[in-house]
Amino acid sequence: MNTPCYTIHLDIFEKNCREVMDAFEEAWGGRVEYGYSVKTNHDAGLMKYAHAKLGWFIETVSPDELELAFNLGFDAENIIFNGPCKCSRQDALINAIRGGAYVNLDNLDDVSFVCRHVSDVRDASRIGIRVNYNLEAECPGETTAGESVSRFGIDVENKDFARAVDMLRSAGIEPAGLHMHTSTRSRSAAVFTSLARKAAQLVNDYGLKLHFVDMGGGYFGGQKVEGKPSMEQYAQVITRELKKALNPEMTTLILEPGASVIATSVTYETSVLSVRDIRGTKIVTMDGTLLHVNPFMAHRNQPYSTSLIADYDARPVDEHQIICGCTCMENDRFADEHSVRRLEPGDVLSFRFAGAYTMAFNSNFIVNPAEVNYEF
Ligand SMILES: Cc1ncc(COP(=O)(O)O)c(C=O)c1O
Repeated sequence: MNTPCYTIHLDIFEKNCREVMDAFEEAWGGRVEYGYSVKTNHDAGLMKYAHAKLGWFIETVSPDELELAFNLGFDAENIIFNGPCKCSRQDALINAIRGGAYVNLDNLDDVSFVCRHVSDVRDASRIGIRVNYNLEAECPGETTAGESVSRFGIDVENKDFARAVDMLRSAGIEPAGLHMHTSTRSRSAAVFTSLARKAAQLVNDYGLKLHFVDMGGGYFGGQKVEGKPSMEQYAQVITRELKKALNPEMTTLILEPGASVIATSVTYETSVLSVRDIRGTKIVTMDGTLLHVNPFMAHRNQPYSTSLIADYDARPVDEHQIICGCTCMENDRFADEHSVRRLEPGDVLSFRFAGAYTMAFNSNFIVNPAEVNYEF
């Protein structure tokens, strides 16, 4: 094995995806579609697997992601196009709507663009509006934006949502979908209850005849952790609220799970390059970097496994050891350890759950992205 490297476990990925599919198809009882979140991990192998093996759409949040999907051979009709900067590349937006992609309009500029290009809209049943409302007020402390406002979607409270509906209707397009994606810190069932309830309320308030409702991503998944909802619980609360206003036979439920299906599907391996002593502390330098598994370098001890080191349990114990990455940055540190067994050059450490928002952030800053292997 060449290190540093990511190993993508396609069997785990598929199991995680099927968990989502089984839970939601059972609970909704109508058509359910899924978008593979390119933002979470843009690995071409994963994108192709999600589509070819599982029938998932490719969910993109920028013109560049859309272009990547086109370059990999995905047709527009197998793509969901989201995100706040669609109008930065009008050709991309036109190709998406002409080709029949699901397009969720994120702001009034998107809406106005679509209204001006009505003749390009191949399938109006795939044009949706991304919703912004005060979720933080309903679930205090849970949203990522916190007490500030979320920057995505079209505000319901200041009447921009009403304007968007009117603009589309005046242009002869009936809004066909709602996009509810909102990032939260908690990923709680209460958040999804609120999001689905808001979607149902908008359907009633605006007399919407929805072809689809897209609940976005933001679920917890791939592992069972006490206090975190299961996929079945998410499916239950979402479908219960949606069914108050929508008929599953008429409306497709769309989900865009990212971290919940990708995080646990990838492990990252890195080898010890050297060990030095600095005033009694062992500095262990790896051939990989924290940037590969924790790209924002959030301050935490990154959990790892030593199971690939055959004689690890027979090694002497070091009082203090800092496991560092190979880049020339002081804070490139995986873990700060006390009373752990000695590491030696050539030892391989394995970091689990390295699939979400890791590889997608890799750049050529100081070191190149790590190599990728696939395991079935
Ligand atoms: C529009 C959209 N859909 C889906 C996702 C995937 O979210 P997560 O990885 O939290 O499931 C994201 C990421 O924030 C997103 O922006």
